[in-house]
Amino acid sequence: MPALVLLGAQWGDEGKGKATDLLGGSVDYVVRYQGGNNAGHTVVVGDQKYALHLLPSGILSPGCTPVIGNGVVVDPSVLFSELNGLNDRGVDTSKLLISGNAHIITPYNVTVDKVTERFLGKRKIGTTGRGIGPTYADKINRVGIRIQDLYDESILTQKVEAALDGKNQLLTKVFNRRAIEVGQVVEELLGYADRLRPYVADTVLVLNQALEQDKVVLFEGGQGTLLDIDHGTYPFVTSSNPTAGGACTGAGVGPTKISRVIGILKAYTTRVGSGPFPTELFDEDGDALRRIGGERGVTTGRDRRCGWFDAVIARYATRVNGLTDFFLTKLDVLTGWEQIPVCVAYEIDGRRVEDLPYSQTDFHHAKPVYEYLPGWSEDITKAKSFSDLPKNAQDYVKALEEMSGAPISAIGVGPGRDETIEINSFL
Ligand code: IMP
Repeated sequence: MPALVLLGAQWGDEGKGKATDLLGGSVDYVVRYQGGNNAGHTVVVGDQKYALHLLPSGILSPGCTPVIGNGVVVDPSVLFSELNGLNDRGVDTSKLLISGNAHIITPYNVTVDKVTERFLGKRKIGTTGRGIGPTYADKINRVGIRIQDLYDESILTQKVEAALDGKNQLLTKVFNRRAIEVGQVVEELLGYADRLRPYVADTVLVLNQALEQDKVVLFEGGQGTLLDIDHGTYPFVTSSNPTAGGACTGAGVGPTKISRVIGILKAYTTRVGSGPFPTELFDEDGDALRRIGGERGVTTGRDRRCGWFDAVIARYATRVNGLTDFFLTKLDVLTGWEQIPVCVAYEIDGRRVEDLPYSQTDFHHAKPVYEYLPGWSEDITKAKSFSDLPKNAQDYVKALEEMSGAPISAIGVGPGRDETIEINSFL
């Protein structure tokens, strides 16, 4: 059954855009199932570089239908500016489908995100400030606004009233901000309705029918496993489920339909925002990874925190997602180190721990236990097959594969579409 999930196996920014785009030419549908414009995919096609935040990467592949599933949160103004940007560059975006059940990131959700972070001070999460958490909070509190609500003004007004009731109390009495007017919000939201209408569809039906007809459907995760609200480093996480199960709830397909779950794994580790990160480097190696790997957020422009590869996390990602394969990205960034440390376990209060600790306290105390693998200095960006890689690079990949618990089926050796070594086909 040709339904694949492709997701981040670390803290996001593993290079998912490239992996999705690589498959994009041979898949019929690319579906986002969670998150919103907090994501950032960079896709390089020829000499063109595209930065996508909300739209599925499949939008760049002619013949592929991009889908925004019910589990995604949509900021219409961001959606339109992303569509305009692509249209200006000649990309056809007319096939896009958006679930009527997807929730809308309203202007007050963005305000609440920013105000809450400021209020948290040094305990802040380091969110992207795009209103993601407050929008999911409204969804769970059953005061969210869905895309379908834009087509019934009376319902929309009642829902915005319900959502703003408590929030205005908070904004004025706790955060010392001005109250937000219902009428103004309703007017802004209604202003999006006409342009959105052609894209709105029953995406659950569309995707299930596509699967019945043996079409290839790719579910594209935003963020990464360790940012999952349930399985990540809570509370330093995003507010949705990037892990594989999220594809089922966020797109409305049953788990029996998923045939393959591919984890995107960077050859080293990065994270943005706050929270524990055992292999984080604060020295010139960290600076070098950041510089060579171009580790700067596509969405926020923030420098990413950088560290060595962490096999404990990779093993955890294999388990919690049921990964069938890995796509190892950015191997070329590691060229030039004499020795490359790889974290094989943690030391926590004097104990050696092989698996991700379930207690937040333990994870905060985890110190990496490193094994040192020999590096390579040869340029690997032109490698087309595994055997083209220098012996030490081959051994590095094999060691990661063994430690991580799933086969590495593709390796990224440069940012371009063709700078990839395919070992096993994903389709
Ligand atoms: P939020 O998703 O904006 O609520 O931010 C919550 C946490 O997830 C913060 O640490 C963000 O930096 C992080 N985050 C959100 N989206 C991404 C992403 O696409 N890549 C990496 N980190 C992300």
